[in-house]
Amino acid sequence: MTLKIGKVKLENPFILAPLHGVNCMAFRLLCKEYGAGLVYSSMIHVNWLVKEKKLPEAIEFCKEEKPIAVQLIGNDPKTIKEAVEIVEPYADIIDFNFGCPDGDVLGWKMGAYLVKHPDKIPKILGAAIGATNKPVTAKIRSGWDEKSINCVEVGKMIEDSGAEAVALHARTKKQVYAGKADWTLIKKLKDAVNIPVIGNGDVTNGFLGKSMLDKTGCDFVMIGRGAMGYPFVFKECNDFLERGKEYRPSMQERHDATIRLMDLYKNKQNKYRFGELKQHIMWSWKWLKGAKEFRVKLMQTKDENELLELVNEYFKTH
Ligand SMILES: Cc1cc2nc3c(=O)[nH]c(=O)nc-3n(C[C@H](O)[C@H](O)[C@H](O)COP(=O)(O)O)c2cc1C
Repeated sequence: MTLKIGKVKLENPFILAPLHGVNCMAFRLLCKEYGAGLVYSSMIHVNWLVKEKKLPEAIEFCKEEKPIAVQLIGNDPKTIKEAVEIVEPYADIIDFNFGCPDGDVLGWKMGAYLVKHPDKIPKILGAAIGATNKPVTAKIRSGWDEKSINCVEVGKMIEDSGAEAVALHARTKKQVYAGKADWTLIKKLKDAVNIPVIGNGDVTNGFLGKSMLDKTGCDFVMIGRGAMGYPFVFKECNDFLERGKEYRPSMQERHDATIRLMDLYKNKQNKYRFGELKQHIMWSWKWLKGAKEFRVKLMQTKDENELLELVNEYFKTH
């Protein structure tokens, strides 16, 4: 299996999904350290980029997280060309979001609106491809609703436009995140196009990561919510793929990963954003025994020393 998107080589097929409000640089680096083969930025609005002529403060990149896919959202070819030129120095891959179901985004005729009105997609991708030598990719949903599933047609349009991969979140816009992702659509898309297909939806452990590869034939598996607070999902997937063995992190590893995230926040990012760090720790304690009372205390911590004390106390007592 050649793990390539355009000329970008990936070490394994497991990818951190674009997650707005989650994928800060520290978290992406942690996912990378636990085995993500590729990490995505969260979506960046092209109009914002073009107006400000720089990256938003909250978006930072570094070389250790490479390869990285920078995701853009927009619909106007001219603005897209300019936005691509701004993000190009940071990106190994430039991705377009044609799946966001957010009401504002739909109102701006972007994101999943374009899965309903796909005739604009070739112009958008064409403008991006014309502005960069880096691979351009697209992320779509299965359709607008259950009556208008069109991911195969849209996937072919994306291929014909010259994009180098297509990611399918196998839910409709109407579903948002509810119900089950329909993996049979990922298989249909894979059978219909020659560019790599990135399957996405409901992978939360190593077994499911390998199952998606086996059942759909997709080239890569993208993981979103399963990675929030649980970067170990990438190690689980790689271990299951290589050895058919379920890996589970020990409490010591969870402790080490939390400390590592705190360290990355403090020493790697320019922006510290204490509240965001606490949110990551909150997610990581979601399923852990006895964490409920600690989650309440976590929200009350006021600085990094209090936070460190609480993290150490939790792991010492559990
Ligand atoms: C908090 C959150 C933020 C998201 N932000 C983005 C985004 O910026 N761009 C995008 O294409 N998809 C975004 N998504 C969708 C995910 O990338 C992914 O397609 C979806 O969560 C399904 O995958 P999963 O079942 O592995 O979570 C977001 C999802 C969540 C839960």
